[in-house]
Amino acid sequence: MSLAASIDGNRVERLHAEAHRTLAGNWRQGALADGTPYGFTCPSPPRYRHQWYWDSCFHAIVWRHFDPPRAREELRTLLRGGRLDGFIPHTIFWHERAGWRRAPFYATHSVRGDRATAHIQTPLLALAWELVAAASEHDDPNFATEGLDALRLHYDWLHTHRDPDGDGLISIIHPDESGLDDSPKYDGVFGWMSHYRPGYFWLVERSRRLRYDSHAIIERYDEHVEDVLVNVVYALSLYALARLTGDDTYLRRAQHTERALLDRCWDEQRGLFWDLAGRGHSPQRISTWSSLAPLALPSLPEPIARRLIEEHLLHPQRYRAPFAIPSVSMEEPSFRAGWHLFRCWRGPSWINTVWLLAPALRRCGYGEEADRILRSCVELVERHGYREYYNPVNGEGLAARRFGWSTLLIDLLPLGADAPGAPIATPFHGSVPGELWAMGAEAASETRRRLERGPVARWVRGTRSRNGARPRTPPTRRG
Ligand code: GLC
Repeated sequence: MSLAASIDGNRVERLHAEAHRTLAGNWRQGALADGTPYGFTCPSPPRYRHQWYWDSCFHAIVWRHFDPPRAREELRTLLRGGRLDGFIPHTIFWHERAGWRRAPFYATHSVRGDRATAHIQTPLLALAWELVAAASEHDDPNFATEGLDALRLHYDWLHTHRDPDGDGLISIIHPDESGLDDSPKYDGVFGWMSHYRPGYFWLVERSRRLRYDSHAIIERYDEHVEDVLVNVVYALSLYALARLTGDDTYLRRAQHTERALLDRCWDEQRGLFWDLAGRGHSPQRISTWSSLAPLALPSLPEPIARRLIEEHLLHPQRYRAPFAIPSVSMEEPSFRAGWHLFRCWRGPSWINTVWLLAPALRRCGYGEEADRILRSCVELVERHGYREYYNPVNGEGLAARRFGWSTLLIDLLPLGADAPGAPIATPFHGSVPGELWAMGAEAASETRRRLERGPVARWVRGTRSRNGARPRTPPTRRG
């Protein structure tokens, strides 16, 4: 059954209204002491109260359906948060500087209250700009051109500072620069300095001492990654910038990156793309959704796309889960479907993954599978609201609530730009006790699940079945 036939207009309308309420409640605006104005959507208060680079791009992509001026303001604010040399930070602390307590966890230049971090995030801005510009044709046609100088500077900065070996693939120097902070694909590279380990503190400190000079860091240390997802998004954005500017320099750079992904990251034997780590470009053979991200590239050869889809994305033991698309292949020993203390991207499904992969699946002729995945996302949101991520096996909603980029779902549903209006919500601030309570509940249910699967429970089940009693819980996958 097609998506339009199985999800009636009222349900879509409710999803739109809730998405609009979520973004509106998370909207923050004001001005700095020097008069610089800002307006952005924070991902989810109280946990995420600031402006995050790729979150803002996703938010603007959704805002353009409801309120194009806000979409534009979100992206303008992101540009305003950047430096004159083209660097744009991963996180910007508009209304409250990062104090010394946060410094170890935020990659800032100093521990004395910076306005922003000194590292990057997956560079989606040009692509988001193009989409928002297309939605601004009537009420602000100049938007398409007003940011071009700054966008050029930004992508030139990435080209100059993050591709020291000139192979077309840009490098990340901290795991969270991809936005996939704790992904198991970084465990082997960053080890004790992984994002979720105390050693991350040293990774930040070490970058601080070298003033975040990426050339110096890459030359001196081996912990840096040519990341597949980052480079796919970089290439897509360079194509967008080439279309916006009409400048072939960006087209050539995009093609160079695309070719490099194919020549250097593709593993013909395993049928997946791998990140390349360190000076030796050693492939990190952990299957995560990032290995499938090249599906979104416009000229990916068809046989490669088919292998990614049939051998992985639609493989029941790998990524074909009941709910959305897991962030790690279910076959990987590191896969965890549920809540994981202070760690994300180690299994749960996120909506931005579906946003990138489902249209590609449809383009390759797998429309029914794309619809199945979208239907499962609709079910997730109807059951739990726009959560940060979801358990791909049992559909449980996890982590932050009213999470901004999960509203990307509405960008994938029929009705598109003709979205009905929704009531504008009053600012939503969340509550710290509520957040702690939710984390506690998630931890408790995860502990219960682990106990039910653990050695004692297995022993009890074994005893019961030997005595003729029915086991209480069937053996489950690592849910
Ligand atoms: C988490 C995610 C990252 C996101 C941030 C704000 O750290 O891993 O991708 O940008 O939250 O939502």
